[in-house]
Amino acid sequence: MTIDYTEKIPNNVDLASDKRLQRALEAWQPRYLEWWHEMGPTDFEPNDIYLRTAVSVERDGWAHFDYVKMMDYRWGIFLEPAEKDRIVGFGDNYGSPAWQEVPGEMRNDLQRLIVTQADTEPASVEQQRLLGHTAPSLYDMRNLFQVNVEEGRHLWAMVYLLQRYFGKAGRDEADELLERRSGNPDRPRILTTFNEPIKTWLDFFLFTMFTDRDGKFQLLALAESGFDPLARSCRFMLTEEAHHMFVGQTGVGRVVQRTCEVMKEFPDHDPREHGAIDLPTLQRFINFWVSSCNDLYGAEVSSNAANFFAAGLKGRAFEDKYEDHVALGQEFEVEKFDQGRMVKEAVPLRNAMNEVLRSEYNADNQKGIDYWNKIIKRHGLDFELRLPNERFNRKIGIYAGQRFDPSGNPLDEAAWNAGVNQWLPSDADQDFVQSLMVPSLEPGKFAAWIAPPAKGINNQGLDFEYVRL
Ligand SMILES: [Fe+2]
Ligand SMILES: [Fe+2]
Repeated sequence: MTIDYTEKIPNNVDLASDKRLQRALEAWQPRYLEWWHEMGPTDFEPNDIYLRTAVSVERDGWAHFDYVKMMDYRWGIFLEPAEKDRIVGFGDNYGSPAWQEVPGEMRNDLQRLIVTQADTEPASVEQQRLLGHTAPSLYDMRNLFQVNVEEGRHLWAMVYLLQRYFGKAGRDEADELLERRSGNPDRPRILTTFNEPIKTWLDFFLFTMFTDRDGKFQLLALAESGFDPLARSCRFMLTEEAHHMFVGQTGVGRVVQRTCEVMKEFPDHDPREHGAIDLPTLQRFINFWVSSCNDLYGAEVSSNAANFFAAGLKGRAFEDKYEDHVALGQEFEVEKFDQGRMVKEAVPLRNAMNEVLRSEYNADNQKGIDYWNKIIKRHGLDFELRLPNERFNRKIGIYAGQRFDPSGNPLDEAAWNAGVNQWLPSDADQDFVQSLMVPSLEPGKFAAWIAPPAKGINNQGLDFEYVRL
């Protein structure tokens, strides 16, 4: 199905046939643009950016590259085509036809799931809004803006669902999505990670690596939803999400590459003396972002998670790979810290669905860490980056309020205080990384702290003018 770009709001959901909805969305559109104009990467509004736009939702048709100004990007509503006779794939309603409208008793839970996902999309644009000024290259600047416009489109995808299926309450939620602000103490975004400042490009790469990957797993779980329009929205969003994680994984990989080159050339020097980010500092930034993202999955043991699964609203990532989609009468082992020691406790599997998803997420994270370690190995250097243990630095769940080192060993407060500057970025680390953030804006040039990528975007060269400044 090709997307009609002559429409005010490009879409493949036959918006023209629902005048009321069309009017509601057309009323929301200028408010969205106002929000983008205030909170997006507005200083680059006049510039032409070499962006990818979806032109159809088919596997080969959704990536079309051209110069476009961000304000002219065609944000739209694209759902994957419907699957014929789709059934609810898990939970108590397993096997019954998937819902095309919201079942009344699920309205509140479903609305909450959609709003929570939706809120992360504009939040990340807000968090990243000033990074263009310190881009390490035009290639990177273009990738940043590509991620930004796609997060904006993800907001559109979720707002469509709210306005189409949730009546007045949904329209109010759509408005509030434009009113909350990342990091604002009075009207913060819903989830903590999305209120953390992204001050440097190192944070940006780690955010797209680890936080967008959280997005991937949340979307995978929602793509299984028995509420078919949500599932179809999320499936299309996942195709865009893959690029965000590519930006993160290869971005950090290029940092590692550059640092290794400096370490080889100056074996007795601190890489910082040569303007590169030393690997222990990188490790501390990894520890921060991974631990923050681990909190996004919620509590290890959760009756909400059990209810969402039972109702058929939020499943497991890749639900197909499981044999039993009802998940009753099974247990999952969680490790709790109780009276000075770790104890294993079996909980009903449905109550552990947050933990099931978090485990999948961390297994995926580990692949990224392995990729970075291969770069270090290739340079013959003796250092290994590590994924911090899930217990480390948690603010939510059964490990919140307790201290663990990055390997997961319990600590008392004194040991935590003695070690924390080895495990999490200190003010001095932040200042150092910040000091490297000087723009490099000549085509084909890259900042000294990061290696060039292996290849350009859409077969263009590295010296291509990805952004016309
Ligand atoms: Fe997104
Ligand atoms: Fe994303």
